Amino acid sequence: MRGLDGKVAVVTGAASGLGEATCVRLAEEGAVVVGLDLAEPSVPLAGFHRLDVTDEAALAAAFDAVAEEHGRVDVLATFAGVAGGGPVHGVAAADWARVIAVNLTGTFLTCKHALRHMVEQRSGSIVTVASVEGIEGTEGGSAYNASKGGVVLLTKNMAIDYGRLGVRVNAVCPGFIDTPMFRAVLGSESMAAFADEYREQHKLGRFGRAEEIASATAFLASDDASFITGHALVVDGGYTTGMRTGLSSLMGLD
Ligand SMILES: NC(=O)c1ccc[n+]([C@@H]2O[C@H](COP(=O)([O-])OP(=O)(O)OC[C@H]3O[C@@H](n4cnc5c(N)ncnc54)[C@H](O)[C@@H]3O)[C@@H](O)[C@H]2O)c1
Repeated sequence: MRGLDGKVAVVTGAASGLGEATCVRLAEEGAVVVGLDLAEPSVPLAGFHRLDVTDEAALAAAFDAVAEEHGRVDVLATFAGVAGGGPVHGVAAADWARVIAVNLTGTFLTCKHALRHMVEQRSGSIVTVASVEGIEGTEGGSAYNASKGGVVLLTKNMAIDYGRLGVRVNAVCPGFIDTPMFRAVLGSESMAAFADEYREQHKLGRFGRAEEIASATAFLASDDASFITGHALVVDGGYTTGMRTGLSSLMGLD
């Protein structure tokens, strides 16, 4: 991909799943990758700051340290996130607040402190992480879906505000991807039948791989996407295309 070699990229959620895979891919593209996470990453990085993305002072200090050490902040990808929800009448206000705080407010705060540097530089590329569940509803989605829907619109608003300053902002909207978060939500025996149904709704007939979100994220961050901003890129194996009942097998399509 063009334009990632030598760029300074900050990735939140770097210690697991999609964020980890994105760190690996950006490094393969030649970027200098700095991770932010609550947990210690297991892949080699150019730098790491252990922090909570709801802690604004820690984020401010981390971005200042990256700019100090590496001279710039070119790319941000915001993978730190948590699952959570349920039917609204059963959701404790504290659980709602935690999901919104990490997924939506954490994205806002992370972008805010990356943007301080990107605005000064007059360049940068941000990829936020929403979900297919930020585009359409799911049973019991509530807090998670609201947080991810918020990320999609926050992304479009930042694209409007910062485009003239040389900063592109896009969202990636993954379908269901096999990661530790996915396994925590859908991996239990009691969820097996539902997991099968979710897999069926991915029209490619399988769940996604972390590398497939990493490549889409790297693309949006790169100069190959130089005229793309404010876009919510669905990377979902066809999950959001429409309902599939299997009727197509009667048409010889299996
Ligand atoms: N896996 C999927 O199917 C899927 C689908 C759509 C969207 N997403 C989104 O992609 C992102 C990554 O998901 P994943 O499946 O890799 O999850 P994961 O649980 O494997 O990784 C999430 C990472 O975020 C970190 N994190 C959580 N809260 C944090 C906080 N407050 N501060 C700093 N770091 C924190 C965790 O320590 C972990 O390393 C999440 O935002 C998730 O909502 C995942």
